[in-house]
Amino acid sequence: MLKFILITVLFLPIAVESKDRWTFENSKAWPATYKYCGGNLQSPIDLNFQISHVDPRLKQLYFKELYSREPLELSNNGYSAQLELKNHYVLKNVAPESEDYKVEQIHFHWGHSEDYVNGSEHLLEGLPYPLEMHIVTYSSWFSNFSEAVKNTRALAVIGVFFEFGKEDNSLLEPIVKTLKHIQHKGQTVFIDGNFDLKALIDEKRLYRYYRYDGSLTNPPCYESVIWNVLPEPLQLSVKQLNAFQTLRAEKSQLIKNTYRSIQPLGSRKLFRSFYSQDIQEDDIQRKILVSKGHDQYSFVKMKFSFVLISLLLFTI
Ligand SMILES: *[C@@H]1O[C@H](CO)[C@@H](O)[C@H](O)[C@H]1NC(C)=O
Ligand SMILES: *[C@@H]1O[C@H](CO)[C@@H](O)[C@H](O)[C@H]1NC(C)=O
Repeated sequence: MLKFILITVLFLPIAVESKDRWTFENSKAWPATYKYCGGNLQSPIDLNFQISHVDPRLKQLYFKELYSREPLELSNNGYSAQLELKNHYVLKNVAPESEDYKVEQIHFHWGHSEDYVNGSEHLLEGLPYPLEMHIVTYSSWFSNFSEAVKNTRALAVIGVFFEFGKEDNSLLEPIVKTLKHIQHKGQTVFIDGNFDLKALIDEKRLYRYYRYDGSLTNPPCYESVIWNVLPEPLQLSVKQLNAFQTLRAEKSQLIKNTYRSIQPLGSRKLFRSFYSQDIQEDDIQRKILVSKGHDQYSFVKMKFSFVLISLLLFTI
């Protein structure tokens, strides 16, 4: 009897694990097992200004903090470091009049310890960044993430690039300094209450983003994601990036090159919430548009003068 129990206990987890085994190296083989990975609305993509279209309905995104900060769970799931946010925040303004999107988790994608170039999933004008953070949210129409994940436009993810800065990013530090406690797959730890999502992402920047319909970037690749990727990167130090690169997956292999190759845009449209690639220029253009929109009176006056002048010219 004891022997039987031992065997069952030993074999069950292995059977479950092997069924759900995918790696970043064999991404070309994903569609054979996970049919959605071969779909037409896959992510990531190359974000290219020239091919994108301004959508003036894309408003500034922002987070509302629902309750005060408390320790959050950070875990090594064998593919990334993931911080569970469990509805601490909701994301607002995903679409005009849209419902709130509940913030589920944050995780990261990176290259490897000798690679200071590749790492991000999305590319910006064909170029990668060394790290990309994903803030994963789901529509509050659904009672939880697993219920939402298969439905069209039920997820909204914010993608944030990181480039190298000279100093540590102190707002990322609550996560980075805790990575040493989750070196191995399955380890979980609580990070202190100092983590501030709104400050880390510098929330006021959320008026400039690319928007497209896409997918989860790894199996099962459900095409349920409203993607929002910020064109301006945040910064982190080389030392901070190295901390991510020490994490290990199964059989103590390093977690590395956790980015999927870019997928064809196909017949999709890439939208953007901003007018100009240059922030200063963009801000000026916004001011002009706002003043035009609000100054209806001068516009009417102009039209009136035009009619008057035309009439005068006509009578002469
Ligand atoms: C970064 O990616 C490019 C394109 O896939 C590849 O050619 C290059 O070798 C990579 N760099 C490193 C340091 O791995
Ligand atoms: C999600 O919600 C559904 C429906 O309410 C429920 O059946 C399911 O157990 C929930 N899943 C989790 C992981 O909480």
